[in-house]
Formats: sequence, C-alpha cells, structure tokens
Amino acid sequence: MTEIPAHELDDGTTLPAIGFGTYPLKDDEAVDAVTSAIDAGYRLVDTAVNYRNEDAVGRGLKASGIPRDQLQVATKLPGRDHGYDETLASFERSRAALGVEYIDLYLIHWPNPSVDRYVESWRAMIELRERGLVRSIGVSNFTEEFLTRLRNETGELPSVNQVELHPYFPQAELRGFHEANGIRTEAWSPLGKNAPVLSEPAIVDTAKRHGVSPAQVVLRWHVQLGSVPIPKSKTPSRQRENIDVFGFELSADEIAAITALGRPDGRLFDGDPNMHEEM
Ligand SMILES: NC(=O)c1ccc[n+]([C@@H]2O[C@H](COP(=O)([O-])OP(=O)(O)OC[C@H]3O[C@@H](n4cnc5c(N)ncnc54)[C@H](OP(=O)(O)O)[C@@H]3O)[C@@H](O)[C@H]2O)c1
Repeated sequence: MTEIPAHELDDGTTLPAIGFGTYPLKDDEAVDAVTSAIDAGYRLVDTAVNYRNEDAVGRGLKASGIPRDQLQVATKLPGRDHGYDETLASFERSRAALGVEYIDLYLIHWPNPSVDRYVESWRAMIELRERGLVRSIGVSNFTEEFLTRLRNETGELPSVNQVELHPYFPQAELRGFHEANGIRTEAWSPLGKNAPVLSEPAIVDTAKRHGVSPAQVVLRWHVQLGSVPIPKSKTPSRQRENIDVFGFELSADEIAAITALGRPDGRLFDGDPNMHEEM
C-alpha cells in the first residue's frame, strides 16, 4: 500500500498530499468506493452536503476498519445555509449525517457573492474550530478578492481553498496568492473530469517516458505544484493507480509543458465564482 506524504497546514494540522473525491457517488456505491479507496491507502475523503452522500461516506469510513484518528473527512457548507447561526446548525446536520464527533476539514462550498453572507459563515467556522468540533477550516471556489475580504473582516485566512484545477485550468495566479499567504490549494476535477485532458500528447508522451498512465502524470503534476488533488473513481483499480504517484518525478520541462495546456476558457463548465452560485 502506498505511503502518502502530508502537508503541514498553517493551523499546525496536516493534510495528506492526495485525497479521494466522492461526487456523484451515492448509497451503497459510495460506501463501497470509500471503503476500497481507504483500503488502497487514501486517508482524506472529500464530500459535501450537496453531494447527498455524507451518510454513505460516513458508513464507508466506519466499514474501512481504520481508526477514526487516522482518517480525515472534509465536507462543505451549502449556499442555502450561509449565515452565522445557519452555519452552526448546518454543521450539526453534517456531523450527524457523517456519524462523527468532529470534522477534519470544513469548507464553504461556494462564495455566492450575491447572497453576501460568506463572511458570517466564516466567523461561525472560526467558532467551530475554537470549540474543537472542526480541526481545520477552509473555503472552496474563492477568488483572491473573496479571500482578502475574509482576512480584512475577520483577521483570518482559510487554511485551504479547494478550487477547479487541472491542466486546462492551472490557476497559476491564484496558486501564487495561496503560496504567498500560507493557504494550501486543493484541486477539484484534478483529472479534468471527462474532458480530453488524458489524451493530450504532452501528457501521453510523458506517461510513456515514465512508464506510468496519463492519469498518474496529471496527478503527479498536481503533487509537484503543491496542490492536493482529490480524484474520484468508483473503480478500485483506478483508485490504486491514482494514489500510486509518489515513486517517480516529472522534470521542470515536463511540468511546464503540462501547465502550458492551460487556456483562458479552460474551465469545465462556466464555474466562475463571481457568477456561478450554488445553493
Ligand atoms: N468544490 C467544488 O465545487 C467541487 C466541484 C467538483 C468536484 N469536486 C470534488 O472533486 C472530486 C473530483 O472531481 P471530479 O469527480 O469532478 O473529476 P475527476 O476526479 O477529475 O474525474 C473523475 C472521472 O475520471 C475518471 N477516472 C478516475 N481515475 C481515472 C483514471 N486513472 N484513468 C481514467 N479515468 C479516470 C472517473 O471514472 P470512474 O469513476 O468511472 O473510474 C470519473 O469519470 C469530486 O468527486 C468532488 O469530491 C468539488
């Protein structure tokens, strides 16, 4: 089984260098996928209220037989629960659905700027961490502007920002801001979901050179960028393949060639956090 390195977060906790995504898995399929992913070596599992699978993810965590303190679960606050009291109540529902005493990483799923209540939610998340109910707090889909507002109004930046990040959308500027400010980047749709990323010659040729698969090249690219990818797969052989990315190294030129696949319109759907909102 692969031993996974970890990053230290700015709050002193650690986050595995790769995690397991669970959308859109549900019910027994989600339980089975989480169990086999943990068996393959994943120790960080990503869910959200809006994936409607927190209960199944929680069952998968328990079925794995791995002690709770060796596993990390991340979940996300939905847009309809923004606000201070609403966040505290939503957290309790997530905790109950997952069947856990504490949540390792709690994220605001989308900023929803037209609603304009993410700062209130952020204050509640700080409170939850101070009460020991959440180990680390973070956000998802936040731009530099939204992150800066959190710092200006609460004095505290998130430990993690989970954003769309893959070779068609490498997010160089935002990653630079994260790095300068102690925020760990997590990458959603790290393999580009079902976009043709994995057939790009720059990736296929690199895979042949290293004797690995195109997916492993892309995940290794994330690891070397310092971002934490959370690939989803319901297929146990792919789960094992995706976590087996710590035994080879890409050159600076190979990294640059993959990053050069980025394009201004590289988002998988129109998920610009200034415009796209999810409740
Ligand atoms: N914060 C947010 O707003 C946000 C948004 C989107 C996603 N997410 C999170 O990020 C996770 C990952 O993103 P994603 O599921 O959209 O995309 P992804 O992980 O980039 O891609 C998943 C797709 O790739 C396939 N796949 C997995 N490993 C493969 C391999 N080795 N070779 C070929 N194909 C492979 C999977 O198929 P099979 O399952 O059939 O094997 C699935 O169709 C989600 O599950 C979710 O937890 C967060």
